[in-house]
Amino acid sequence: MKIEYFHASKFGSGEKLAGEFKRLMSERGITVNIHHMRDVKPKNLPAADLYVFSSPGRLGKPPIYVRRFLQGVDLAPGSRYAILNTQGAAGVNKKGELPTDEELSKYRQMLPIMRKILDGKGLHFVASEVIDVFDLKGPMEEGWEDKVEAFVERVL
Ligand SMILES: Cc1cc2nc3c(=O)[nH]c(=O)nc-3n(C[C@H](O)[C@H](O)[C@H](O)COP(=O)(O)O)c2cc1C
Repeated sequence: MKIEYFHASKFGSGEKLAGEFKRLMSERGITVNIHHMRDVKPKNLPAADLYVFSSPGRLGKPPIYVRRFLQGVDLAPGSRYAILNTQGAAGVNKKGELPTDEELSKYRQMLPIMRKILDGKGLHFVASEVIDVFDLKGPMEEGWEDKVEAFVERVL
């Protein structure tokens, strides 16, 4: 089994997730090739049994170049994909208030936007997971390695 993994990490958390995903898969005898979306043209992605896409958030959405990358993906309908995102951890505002569910959901439209693009191409969604990142640049939430391992089990 071969997995192609495309991330868009800026500060390193998404890259760490990719490395952990690869490590856990290699323990299971599975090859994972990691790419930054900036380094790859989305047309003609290498053949794989599973594609993983990973994005941070920017103003509630994936960064524009991630949306463009996903829109440019040209894979056979039915190709399997999974999403392993990072997002900003919810914190209190200047008044000491936590965001409401509605505010949080506006800040976190990355997964639905990515799914809409990829499902719209007839690709087959397998699983998703998201990891909270504190203070934009990390650290990631405690126990993130366990969440990645559970994600690995779900995609297999
Ligand atoms: C300018 C800017 C805007 C951001 N906007 C959002 C956002 O709307 N929603 C969200 O969940 N996280 C947001 N974040 C936090 C990023 O998701 C977080 O920095 C990222 O997940 C870290 O991953 P990386 O280390 O792989 O770059 C924003 C970060 C920056 C720098």
